[in-house]
This record gives sequence, C-alpha cells and structure tokens, in this order.
Amino acid sequence: MRAIEFAGAGGPEVLRIVDRPRPEAGPGEVLIRVAAAGLNRADVQQRRGFYAPPPGASDIPGLEVSGTVAALGSGVDRFEVGASVCALLTGGGYAEYVAVPVGQVLPVPVGMPTVDAAALPEVTCTVWSNLVMTARITSGDWVLIHGGAGGIGTMATQLVAAVGAHPVVTAGSGSKIEYCRSFGAEAGINYRDEDFVERMRVISGGHGADAVLDVVGAAYLDRNIRALAFGGRLVVIGLQGGATGELDLGLLMSRRARVIGTTLRARPAEEKARIVAEVAEHVWPLVEAGTVRAAVEARFPLERAAEAHEYFDSGEHTGKILLTM
Ligand SMILES: NC(=O)c1ccc[n+]([C@@H]2O[C@H](COP(=O)([O-])OP(=O)(O)OC[C@H]3O[C@@H](n4cnc5c(N)ncnc54)[C@H](OP(=O)(O)O)[C@@H]3O)[C@@H](O)[C@H]2O)c1
Repeated sequence: MRAIEFAGAGGPEVLRIVDRPRPEAGPGEVLIRVAAAGLNRADVQQRRGFYAPPPGASDIPGLEVSGTVAALGSGVDRFEVGASVCALLTGGGYAEYVAVPVGQVLPVPVGMPTVDAAALPEVTCTVWSNLVMTARITSGDWVLIHGGAGGIGTMATQLVAAVGAHPVVTAGSGSKIEYCRSFGAEAGINYRDEDFVERMRVISGGHGADAVLDVVGAAYLDRNIRALAFGGRLVVIGLQGGATGELDLGLLMSRRARVIGTTLRARPAEEKARIVAEVAEHVWPLVEAGTVRAAVEARFPLERAAEAHEYFDSGEHTGKILLTM
C-alpha cells in the first residue's frame, strides 16, 4: 500500500511516499481502507522530531482517518465490511490502510461525506474529553479558547456553544476572528494586539473564564490563571509557547483554581474507547442535526502531503486540512 513516512526530522521536505505492507486486522481490530486522513499539529511535531510515536505505535504519521471497513479481526461484532467509518488512531493514518482497535472506530455521521469525517475524531475526542469530561463545563460557563480558528478551536467553539456555555476565542487576525464567529464564538480577541486577560473580564461582565482551553503553554501560564474566574479550570493541551513556566501558587489558591494537562495520543486503548463512546453518544447527534460541523477547509491528495504540511506550517490555514487517498 502507499503510505507517507518521515525520512528524518525537519521540514515538509522529509515527507516521502513509500510502499509499505498492508496491515492486517488483529484480534479486536478493524482494518480500514482509508478515504482521507486529518492533519494535526502533532504530525508536524513528529515530523520535526519533537514528538515520537508512543511505544508500539506505527511510525507512519496520522492520528485520524475516515474510510470503509475492509476486514474485521477476531472478536469484532460491531460494523460490517463495507461500512463507512472514521477512527481515532495512535498513528498510521497517512496510508491506504490502517488497523485500529474497534473501540476507537465510529460510524460516519449520517449525512456527512465519508472523506469529511476524517476531520472529526481527533478534535471531537480532544475537546470533549478535556472540556466536558475533565473540566466539567456546563451551561452558562464562560470558556476561553485559545487558537479559535484552528482545528481544535473550531470544534471547541461549537461544542462549548452546544452545551449552552459562552465560547470566547483568541485568534491572530481580524479575519480569523470573523471565521470563529461563524462557528458560534460570542467574542474574539486578537492575541497579537489585545490583552486577553482584560478583554475576557470585560466580555464576561467581570466574571472571568470558568475554563480556559490552552494550546500555548508556558508563555500564557500566568495570564491564563489571571483570566480565570473563581473555581476556574485551566486545561493545557498544547505547548506552542514552551513547556516550562512560572506558576504563582498564591494566585492559584486565591482563585481556588485548577491546572490540568493532558495528551490524548498516549492514553491506553480502553481510555480512548471510553472517550470515543461518549463522543458517539453526545457529539454525533449534534453533527447529524447540523448543530456541529466539520471545519474542512483544504484537501490535498496523498502524493501532495508535503504541500499540505507546508500550508499547515504557514499558519495561514483555518480549520482542518485533509489528505485524500
Ligand atoms: N493534548 C492533546 O491531546 C492534543 C490533541 C490535539 C491537539 N492538541 C494541541 O492543540 C493545538 C491545536 O492543534 P490543531 O491541530 O488544531 O492545530 P492548528 O489548527 O494549527 O491550530 C493551532 C492554533 O494555535 C493558535 N495559536 C498559535 N499561537 C498562539 C498564541 N500565541 N495565542 C493564541 N493562539 C495561538 C493558532 O492561532 P492563529 O492561526 O489564529 O494564529 C491556531 O489557531 C496544538 O498545540 C496541538 O498540539 C493537543
């Protein structure tokens, strides 16, 4: 089968199309004939040599795919061969076939083209597990989402709105803020020239953020705590601004606040299956009702994967980028 591998660490030039053996569906696994794979920042970090696949995971990049079921491993009684599905992976998505534990497979939402469903698993599972299952956001909460125009940000905005909370986003330009508004952002803050702590207070009528979904890390640590309301939760899921910062514990205590950090990729299969099951129960009906949509903004054929990475690196993109087979 055709697949993409990284020939060393570096820029998009290290992407190489190669011929690899087709995987087989092991016990408890589903073999998917891939229609499309979603790009994620983790793929770029892996390409640069900063994010090695967890032990046992494929060296082929790609954390999510959509496609059709090609074969079922022993013990799998969900899904039929030929069914349209999408899946959350630990790796291996940039390829024509991938085998994945059945607990990480979801049906393609009714009414959605199979290709577009590749944009859903990573962002829905990341956002739902962090904001709903962990930070426990509820109706009426104020939620600050950093990077509102990105893949994670567009889904976070929609799911925050869907639970009846108030999504406020940061983004790097006025046009990106407008884009965020089209997903339901109640307000946008341009992080390049506005103080998000001050703006978050004003926008929320002096309350602050009940939760912050952060993709920046160290560079925002202090300001994120200052942006929190009493009892607020800071959930760090990205480190684009570094990993080591100074935390004012006095401020944390006086806010009665919590700092949480998570990664999805390295979690055990059983934990991923629990998240996927919650997403199927709570998020899929929203997608099927049209309340939540996949923010697919660009598609590149597999052989142009390096170009897709170049575009991702440019930072000009919004929403999700897909590789199609
Ligand atoms: N921990 C986990 O399990 C997990 C899972 C999935 C993703 N992630 C992380 O989530 C982040 C988003 O991933 P993605 O795939 O959605 O990437 P993406 O589409 O490229 O989004 C990156 C976003 O970061 C924003 N950003 C960059 N610098 C910023 C700053 N100083 N202030 C505010 N926003 C800033 C960008 O905003 P502009 O474009 O407006 O400049 C962009 O919206 C990444 O850091 C990724 O590693 C973590």
